[in-house]
Amino acid sequence: MKIEGKDYRTIWFENNVVKIIDQTKLPHSFVIKDLKNVSDAINAIKVMEVRGAPLIGATAAFGLVLSILENNDQSFLKKSAEELIKSRPTAINLKWAVDRMMQKLSGVNSDQILDLAIDEAKKICEEDIKFCKNIGLNGLKIIEEIYNKKKDTVNILTHCNAGWLATINWGTATSPIYHAHKKGIPVHIWADETRPRNQGANLTSYELNEEGVNNTVIADNTGGILMQRGQVDMCIVGTDRTLSNGDVCNKVGTYLKALAAYDNNIPFYVALPSSTIDWDIKSHKDIPIEERNSEELSHVEGLDEKGNIKQVLIYPKKSKAMNLAFDVTPAKYVTGLITEKGVCEASKEGLKKLFK
Ligand code: MRU
Repeated sequence: MKIEGKDYRTIWFENNVVKIIDQTKLPHSFVIKDLKNVSDAINAIKVMEVRGAPLIGATAAFGLVLSILENNDQSFLKKSAEELIKSRPTAINLKWAVDRMMQKLSGVNSDQILDLAIDEAKKICEEDIKFCKNIGLNGLKIIEEIYNKKKDTVNILTHCNAGWLATINWGTATSPIYHAHKKGIPVHIWADETRPRNQGANLTSYELNEEGVNNTVIADNTGGILMQRGQVDMCIVGTDRTLSNGDVCNKVGTYLKALAAYDNNIPFYVALPSSTIDWDIKSHKDIPIEERNSEELSHVEGLDEKGNIKQVLIYPKKSKAMNLAFDVTPAKYVTGLITEKGVCEASKEGLKKLFK
């Protein structure tokens, strides 16, 4: 998708270096960063220079390429794989991508392994782009249906950033939106600010602006009243891990939006590629929920009057803060899952019909 009119992907491989868009600098500056070794990749995931379930999976895959370039040795590769998996616990795509790479690379001859790793990491990216595009085409039908009934702008609420910046291209939740926009269907997006890191304001609103999609940032607690006032036609969010029973783990606050949508009879869709489905865990209680540094809550970042990025403390110095990064929306509140293979009910039966 476009930034200042130029097409980008979020990650690419060039001259034995992994290139990423440093998302900690957005929206104030657009910086392309080089990841030169596996520690750079682990750090980029941890500090969220890259974030979003599919993108951290792809970064981990390229992290293994960097590991081979650094030290072409199976025990170093295994250690790198373990470290990458630990770098962020909740999004299943990370483990999925590392496992997929390691299946290809374990025990492979040292003179063949690099080409194989580059090839597989690129395949993971290409596949994600294809899947996200299909998610868009499948979700587009839902938006079109609403538009055909309403004959007016379709208002869509989204939480966090499940946009192209969270994937390689297109995004998950945003892909139906971009497809609708390109088709000339008038859409307007309510972008939840998404405290504490403000991915909705800093990333979703930014990427929608760059694509010319009409959007408004709202405080996280505003969605409820907008729904009561009839100003939301549907919600679409992404997910970091969806269980085989249809329970959806996503950025903290998603659950409350789903409850409000349910109370107001507003369709609540979750968009995801199959790499985000955890077929093993049976109960949401077993999902590892990331708890991040409380400073993400107590400090906010912004531009000062001289145009420098600055962090300021906004809480009383003595206050404690707790920063759980994700929550779980039970399947009963999810109208449907928009996947690369079609739209299904958020249930074991629904998922089974699409993914045999
Ligand atoms: O903490 P983040 O910014 O990585 O959280 C991202 C989300 O919660 C997204 O909704 C999710 O990863 C889906 S991305 C297509």
